Amino acid sequence: MQSAAITVIGTGYVGLVAGACFADWGHQVICVDHDAGRIAGLNHGRVPIYEPGLDKILARATRSGNLSFSTDTIGAVKSSQAVFIAVGTPPRKSDGEADLSFVHQCASDIATALRPGALVVTKSTVPVGTGDVIERILRQARQDDAIPVVSNPEFLREGSAIGDFCEPDRVVIGTEDEAARAVLRNIYQPIALRGHRILFTRRRSAELIKYASNAFLAAKITFINEMADLCEMADADVGDIALGMGLDRRIGPHFLHAGPGYGGSCFPKDTLALVRTAQEYGVSLRLVEETVQANTARKRRMAQRVRHILDGSVENKRIAILGLTFKADTDDMRDSPSIPLIELLQRSGAVVHAHDPEGMEQARRILPNVTYHDDPYDCARGADAIVFLTDWEALKHLDLARLAAVMRHPVMLDLRRIYDPEEAARQGFVIETVGRSGLEPHPLSTFQPSYLLPDIAAQTRLPIAVTSNLNIQPTKERLA
Ligand code: UDX
Ligand code: UDX
Repeated sequence: MQSAAITVIGTGYVGLVAGACFADWGHQVICVDHDAGRIAGLNHGRVPIYEPGLDKILARATRSGNLSFSTDTIGAVKSSQAVFIAVGTPPRKSDGEADLSFVHQCASDIATALRPGALVVTKSTVPVGTGDVIERILRQARQDDAIPVVSNPEFLREGSAIGDFCEPDRVVIGTEDEAARAVLRNIYQPIALRGHRILFTRRRSAELIKYASNAFLAAKITFINEMADLCEMADADVGDIALGMGLDRRIGPHFLHAGPGYGGSCFPKDTLALVRTAQEYGVSLRLVEETVQANTARKRRMAQRVRHILDGSVENKRIAILGLTFKADTDDMRDSPSIPLIELLQRSGAVVHAHDPEGMEQARRILPNVTYHDDPYDCARGADAIVFLTDWEALKHLDLARLAAVMRHPVMLDLRRIYDPEEAARQGFVIETVGRSGLEPHPLSTFQPSYLLPDIAAQTRLPIAVTSNLNIQPTKERLA
């Protein structure tokens, strides 16, 4: 491998992990961000996100002299062979399409600073055809001096980002430019040598692979979540279903863990953006549309389940929420199931207390009217119900008897299937678990599954209508 000079623009979960790992592999990397505070912090060794293992790699790469941080994008780009764009592509509020303004702005900002022979690589998740737009932006600014634009989507998961980046199932590189392929082959050589597959495709295919993968995984989770609903009615256990299905190698065991619905910065936004893209091409992705609808409805329905386990009303009830982030091992609150759950509970008069091992700082900004606790037992004290929403390791080993003893009513809703219901019942809990029918009916309740309760229609309204309209005229030039 030859050491490559790389700029990574954007120091979020993707950009910072990519920059740190590239530098750790021996490349010369400058990570840039327009957020001066973030860069100042990084220059002082402060890691702006919680991601296990990232602090060590950043420290090692910085110490080695391979990694530096700057707000000077132009200065960094001027000396780089490859410029990775890893800025956010959030959903546009109006229609759910990916907002590409940051990506486009980056392209025009760097266009004239790129040195001849350099290339631009999109790591941000961008809709099919975005590479063509970036190419046009660069060409307009540089006249005939063409810069190859490559799609290199990132598949890392928050919480296991370093492992996913360094030991990926595949690296996808979308470009037909041979010189660009050679540069990317060199950059990824350290992991190619360890046997990881580098897949070269056309640029548009690479852009679409990322959305297709995320949409498929989101659909897989939604499938098992719906099976969980059925299990609760049919007196079966979704854990058995997932195990039995997962042993079939054609299905595989991953992403079959039933829960409160998927969240995070990718699945919700990418499924919606994919539906939008398909609509623009006049194609209907009914499975993905249903996935979006079902998951949004599911997240909102979790408040119904809390109401259900408290026999219909949460008014003036103290609810303890354990786990706020969209999954364990991250501080990221984006599209977390905790947000609609807590907002709906509060709207119904509940008093919400919460604890999360890493996410409370971010949560405070989004959910200000919650009482936060550093300790899970303090959070549960005096509560009428406790809800497990994220399967943090630290929340998996609580002393249930102690927990039950500090609560006003030992009622538990386990939305991540953390605890064995029989054991929880032995420790004094009345418990409902996702994907299993209750052990016995709650003494106060007339059992009716929460998703059959009458006000469900109001609870499941979507912020953005995604129903496909086959009459939509294709707007993309592909069909022209
Ligand atoms: C990434 C991808 O880029 C996104 O497309 C994908 O779907 C999910 O992963 P993420 O790393 O989570 O996003 O982004 P975020 O945490 O929002 O960080 C983006 C960073 O880029 C921020 O630090 C922001 O300050 C920076 N930024 C944004 C710039 O430096 N310049 C800009 O113009 C915009
Ligand atoms: C996802 C993709 O997995 C990753 O490849 C892509 O690069 C970014 O988006 P991430 O959002 O970080 O990664 O986390 P992931 O582990 O995929 O979880 C997403 C959501 O699905 C979480 O809310 C999680 O709790 C939920 N989930 C996941 C389940 O409910 N059940 C499962 O079996 C797996």
